[in-house]
Amino acid sequence: MEQHGRVGARKVTGNCAHERTERYESMPETGIISAMSEISWTYTSRSLAQTEHIGVQLGTLLQSGDVLCLVGDLGTGKTAFARGVAAGWRSTTAVTSPTFVLIHEHQRDADAMRLQHIDAYRLERLEDAALLGLEDIFASESAVIIEWADRIAPLLPEDRLWIEFALVPEDEQARQLTFSAHGLRGTALLSALRKAFSA
Ligand SMILES: Nc1ncnc2c1ncn2[C@@H]1O[C@H](COP(=O)(O)OP(=O)(O)O)[C@@H](O)[C@H]1O
Ligand SMILES: [Mg+2]
Repeated sequence: MEQHGRVGARKVTGNCAHERTERYESMPETGIISAMSEISWTYTSRSLAQTEHIGVQLGTLLQSGDVLCLVGDLGTGKTAFARGVAAGWRSTTAVTSPTFVLIHEHQRDADAMRLQHIDAYRLERLEDAALLGLEDIFASESAVIIEWADRIAPLLPEDRLWIEFALVPEDEQARQLTFSAHGLRGTALLSALRKAFSA
């Protein structure tokens, strides 16, 4: 799609900070550079375009079964990031901010894989999440991106990439994104994202 191509083509850079990884990497005596280690990475986006762009990078890496959990207050950029992810994944359907619909299913031309975009904002009680049929979704040929994932945290698979979005007080156009990888795929995704992003 035209809009997606535009987002994907933009060349932007931001500030990165590395946290826990250094700790693991600087402990050679323990041999811990395990793929199961929790790894976190903080990225400061300085514009909407940068937030979309890092989403695009992540979208190109997605495989069936991958789970992206987006957490943060309203207006911190979760949907903008999701839009980038869908563009990088080559969705033929546009990401909208779901109002009453809690799940949007996206498809692409390349294959039968699906991208499920869930927004748990309107879920008032955890029990209501049962209506979403999450187990079927996680078992399907889909990658899943969930806004307000903290609202349904007990229902999420352990293997996931958790991404916290926060405002930056001194810069209205900036957002801090903190990625925490859990499990093999979560860790693989974050490693690949960091590699792609520093390339
Ligand atoms: N660096 C940035 N990254 C993402 N959004 C930004 C940024 N700077 C300003 N914005 C603005 O913040 C808002 C983010 O909205 P949205 O992505 O819908 O947030 P959420 O889904 O978290 O509620 C948009 O209006 C966007 O233009
Ligand atoms: Mg949103």
